Amino acid sequence: MPHIRSFCLETDHAAVVALWTSVLGYGTAHNAPELSIRKKLEVADGLFFVDEISGRLAGTVMAGYDGHRGWIYSLAVDPGLRRQGIGRALLSCAEAALDERGCVKINLQIADGNEGVIGFYEKTGYRVEPRTCMGKLLLK
Ligand SMILES: CC(C)(COP(=O)(O)OP(=O)(O)OC[C@H]1O[C@@H](n2cnc3c(N)ncnc32)[C@H](O)[C@@H]1OP(=O)(O)O)[C@@H](O)C(=O)NCCC(=O)NCCS
Repeated sequence: MPHIRSFCLETDHAAVVALWTSVLGYGTAHNAPELSIRKKLEVADGLFFVDEISGRLAGTVMAGYDGHRGWIYSLAVDPGLRRQGIGRALLSCAEAALDERGCVKINLQIADGNEGVIGFYEKTGYRVEPRTCMGKLLLK
């Protein structure tokens, strides 16, 4: 049974860094887990959730809301605990938090090579949209 709550720096930091390092595998400095966590806590928007099972980190999700769109980031479930509804529950929690803030549309990005998760998002109500994604790095 998922037990979803807000991220807690004292108890969750090490486990979240370990999960993201092994599961999300971001290799760039601006995606370093420690930086992402610190930056998220700085904005203090209450949109960073974890699922805990028997005292162990089972999964994470971050969301962002800029007044126009909501975004989903860092949805990750421990590989040994997948296909039990945890990913869906985390996503629902983030969606509910965005909805509470007045968000009318959610977007998310899937990295090249990770298209295997499209099926998961389709099952949870998302559709592939014809967009080209662009980015610009501000990190010095
Ligand atoms: C994507 C991810 C979060 C899904 O977590 P999960 O806990 O296994 O998902 P759930 O058990 O809640 O699955 C919900 C539904 O999607 C289905 N599903 C899960 N993963 C799927 C996949 N890769 N392809 C197709 N369907 C999938 C489940 O069977 C379930 O279907 P059902 O409702 O008909 O039973 C997990 O696989 C993960 O952490 N992947 C690695 C990190 C990642 O790529 N995150 C997304 C970044 S964009």
